[in-house]
Amino acid sequence: MIRMGVIGYGYWGPNIVRNFHNTEGVKVVAVCDGNPASLKRVAKIYPTIRLCSDSREITTATDIDAVAVVTPVSTHFELAWQALSNGKHVFVEKPLTATAAEAEKLVSLAQKNRLILMVDHTFVFTGAVRKIKQLVDEDVLGALYYYDSTRVNLGLFQHDINVIWDLAPHDLSIMDHLLPIKPEAIVATGASHLNDMEDVAYITAYFADNLIAHLNVNWLSPVKVRTTLLGGEKRMLVWNDLESDEKIKIYDKGVEIKNAENVYDLLVSYRSGDMWSPRLEQKEALGRECRYFADCVEDNQTPFNDGEAGYRIVKMLEATSVSLKNRGKLVYL
Ligand SMILES: NC(=O)c1ccc[n+]([C@@H]2O[C@H](COP(=O)([O-])OP(=O)(O)OC[C@H]3O[C@@H](n4cnc5c(N)ncnc54)[C@H](O)[C@@H]3O)[C@@H](O)[C@H]2O)c1
Repeated sequence: MIRMGVIGYGYWGPNIVRNFHNTEGVKVVAVCDGNPASLKRVAKIYPTIRLCSDSREITTATDIDAVAVVTPVSTHFELAWQALSNGKHVFVEKPLTATAAEAEKLVSLAQKNRLILMVDHTFVFTGAVRKIKQLVDEDVLGALYYYDSTRVNLGLFQHDINVIWDLAPHDLSIMDHLLPIKPEAIVATGASHLNDMEDVAYITAYFADNLIAHLNVNWLSPVKVRTTLLGGEKRMLVWNDLESDEKIKIYDKGVEIKNAENVYDLLVSYRSGDMWSPRLEQKEALGRECRYFADCVEDNQTPFNDGEAGYRIVKMLEATSVSLKNRGKLVYL
């Protein structure tokens, strides 16, 4: 039995507690939150879970094996460090830390103490991303040309981070998981309209082999859009996460260039074949991820969404911050 302590029961914490509570072989022993109203909400649903307001009561407890950190980003490093220092496995929310230097320190400490450090990159556990990964790995799309995602809605404004640090970890972790190569350089532009934090931003990531990615993240959109296009040499894919059925559509469409010897002789031919929509697994992504965390702890196995993956995402986020400050300067990774 893995005995869990959870720190942070605000917006996302209830999902973490519910999913670990429902994971066989895991027991949520205690929940910590500095806000008494949050603890009241826990007590109402889980009367047997121990409650506390000081994180040290979780990170140093002798009856806790693993800690989930579900607090704002600025607190992740301190809390994960406390937990790893006290021999606890750690499941930490995205993004892993506020700086790449902090992420590196957590990765080293977890390695030194032989503990699992896993980052909640929830989207890579969705049926949609798992299916896209399978299609990419089986070369159904062919050599990849571009990754293009739009993740926009009205709010929820975060107080300590801009829209990139809030929303882009999802797309960056999906890209990190799906694409066969890592980006070489990043450009980010954006603007803040309500406080000092950018609420609208555009990120471009450059890869080798002419692969390019573009992410559009926005807290000021009147409508919610969650659409990703993945274009390949053989086929193109559209993932609309707001669709209840047929979230993914694969188009057998493409472009071929013939007679390229002379630019005036160029013959462009467009191929337009069938479209199909694969069946996706329906299970809740977070439930699958909590099960995977428990399996990794039990089997002493390094997760693919480990501290190193978390570090890669934070490094890209840091690069966007440097580029933003310099109005879209190219930043090498
Ligand atoms: N994986 C996802 O899809 C997803 C979705 C939403 C949020 N998140 C992540 O979850 C984390 C929390 O986000 P949220 O929206 O729930 O924030 P929130 O502000 O709603 O909740 C955070 C809670 O942590 C408590 N807290 C803060 N510092 C604490 C401390 N030192 N000790 C004890 N309690 C403390 C606060 O009182 C609050 O109740 C963030 O890292 C965010 O990026 C992930």
